[in-house]
Amino acid sequence: MRQSSLVVVAMRLPIDDSVALDGACEWRRSPGGLVSALHPLLRQTPATWVGWAGGSGPAPSLPDVDGVRLHTVPLTRDDLRDHYEGFANATLWPLYHDAVEQPEHHRRWWEAYQRVNQRYAEATAAVAEPGAIVWVQDYHLQLVPGLLRRLRPDLRIGFFLHVPFPPPELFMQLPRRAELLHGMLGADLVGFQRAQAAHNFAQLATKVLGVSATDRRIAVDDRVVRIGAFPVSIDTDELSALSARTEVAERAQRFRRDLGDPERVILSVDRMDYTKGIEQRLTAYSELLASGHIKVRDTVLVQVAVPSRERVGQYQILRDRVEREVGRINGEFGRVGEPAIHYLTQPFDRIELAALYRVADVMAVTPLRDGMNLVAKEYVAARVDDTGALLLSEFAGAAAELSQAYLVNPHDLEGLKQGLLSALQADPADVATRMRGMREHLRRHDIRAWARSYLSALDENGSLLHRLGGTA
Ligand code: ADP
Ligand code: G6P
Repeated sequence: MRQSSLVVVAMRLPIDDSVALDGACEWRRSPGGLVSALHPLLRQTPATWVGWAGGSGPAPSLPDVDGVRLHTVPLTRDDLRDHYEGFANATLWPLYHDAVEQPEHHRRWWEAYQRVNQRYAEATAAVAEPGAIVWVQDYHLQLVPGLLRRLRPDLRIGFFLHVPFPPPELFMQLPRRAELLHGMLGADLVGFQRAQAAHNFAQLATKVLGVSATDRRIAVDDRVVRIGAFPVSIDTDELSALSARTEVAERAQRFRRDLGDPERVILSVDRMDYTKGIEQRLTAYSELLASGHIKVRDTVLVQVAVPSRERVGQYQILRDRVEREVGRINGEFGRVGEPAIHYLTQPFDRIELAALYRVADVMAVTPLRDGMNLVAKEYVAARVDDTGALLLSEFAGAAAELSQAYLVNPHDLEGLKQGLLSALQADPADVATRMRGMREHLRRHDIRAWARSYLSALDENGSLLHRLGGTA
């Protein structure tokens, strides 16, 4: 078994599911924030990525991708139903996102969560060099740090949560809350998107486990676990350079023409998820059409909503409701050849996505709750001429950094409508000032800065950073 000095552990391997089944594979570039964030960091770093290759049954053996070794973890249909669709995406995901949908609790799901986390821990223990750095990602694998420490006490273990970490009153609902906290505390460093999440975690550690905790350090057994906020980011320069390419500008022009050369294009790009506030946004848009504040001839909304987690009931219900509403709005307000909403469920490649960002006069990113929301950052990076208004939910992690966006509370329908109108009618000089400020911030706080700050906190003696050289 080949071993690595840096091992990333995530539920999924960063590859496209359909391609993986053929034996060949490519980086998965769509859609989801975790892979988008880690891709630019790892493609030039000697590392192993431990994860699921898609599908059920025996784990395929996969070739390296861009120099990254892929180590597959096999999952059965039952594992997927009870761990991925169940505990991860129908218990933890809704609970961590303010319980905007009701979290479900089933003992069978918890058993699967433990079983699958154990399998990931064992797979990781097999591929980590002595003294390696292991970086465990996200809510699917919260028990892995603790399980791995038992198997391999020599490792330096980091855990990063890409989604929000909820306040104690929500987390306390979890029947196995103590085990989940213990699992995370197996890490040397637990990273969150926002300082509030680290604070929630420290409070819970004290309340549930009775340990001594501050927002920076938690004493567990004979160890100190460090905690903190490390807001994830994007490869700002790469996306800006891509967006500045002639072919992207030409594609953006074609998009605008195909949209009927409207005065204003509003864009939203989401996974089809109830946390993204898609329905609230459609209601706001529909009411603005009904009141005549927005006219279909002048303004179009492009809503990209890629289906996600389609076997989970709440996601099926959401998709049905969104599609019914899009149909209603187009039926009521569209004209022949002029739909009110251009609704697209396809994944786009990087060039098309950059062109969509370039064509959007207003980008509406209005989740009810979101760990970060990289789409908001991608839009800013793509606006190379400092134009474009970002309408951003206060409840997205990105709002803490992109405070010059037009901020809205998506739960407040009137506020959302007013925010959308303000962004549509904003003075171009004001738009440019805000965009310049946000672009400047993202240039300094890009994905490399994120990786550097996390890994240097994890790797106290600096040996990994030294080995990674310029990459991180
Ligand atoms: P989440 O992690 O909840 O999916 P983020 O906004 O943080 O939300 O990340 C979504 C990522 O998926 C972004 O990098 C975005 O570019 C990508 N993405 C979303 N929709 C599409 C799509 N239709 N085609 C390609 N990539 C997409
Ligand atoms: C969010 C989560 C990721 C997840 C992604 C896509 O970004 O934080 O862990 O991979 O959504 O969701 P999926 O269920 O398709 O992996």
